[in-house]
Amino acid sequence: MPDLVPVLKKDEIAKVVTELAQKISSDYHGRELILIAVLKGAFVFLSDLIRLITIPVKVDFIRAASYGSNTSSSGQIQLTKEIEIDINNKDVLVVEDIVDTGLTLGYIVDYLKSFEPCSVKVCALLDKIERRETDLTVDYTGLVVSKGFLVGYGLDYAEDYRNLPGIYDLKL
Ligand code: IMP
Ligand code: MG
Repeated sequence: MPDLVPVLKKDEIAKVVTELAQKISSDYHGRELILIAVLKGAFVFLSDLIRLITIPVKVDFIRAASYGSNTSSSGQIQLTKEIEIDINNKDVLVVEDIVDTGLTLGYIVDYLKSFEPCSVKVCALLDKIERRETDLTVDYTGLVVSKGFLVGYGLDYAEDYRNLPGIYDLKL
């Protein structure tokens, strides 16, 4: 049986999400923001985040598949769900659960820029910054985490563990 080592408790995550929502609400005050969440992992984070943001927001989703092993991406990325909202001339914030090499988000940011939005920024709950392989900028980072493979709060391993309220390091 895989071992789940606790990394972040439910309350610790809530504190981080509240701080991110406050910062985003203040930075985009007076503007209208389009949040684009990366499926599937970011859906739990997004649902907590939007309810703490105090400015008007619209929400859309995007999905990217990366072909590689179960615990790391290959860099060969393909969009499997495109955006549906018109983002031309709009302020866009991409919402992601965790950034690892940065290849997935780098691809998504380039794709979104092709619609000529007013701005595109990135918000990630977790950032494994040591493993970055691109020059992707994460504008809003919840927490920097070290290596390991994290599950829970939307994050999965082979589609399991997304429903856990806390975040755990999966030891296979
Ligand atoms: P990247 O392209 O290497 O940055 O990989 C990012 C994607 O891989 C994220 O969207 C996550 O879905 C997934 N991922 C990376 N690290 C983890 C992890 O520790 N747990 C669960 N998913 C992860
Ligand atoms: Mg993901």
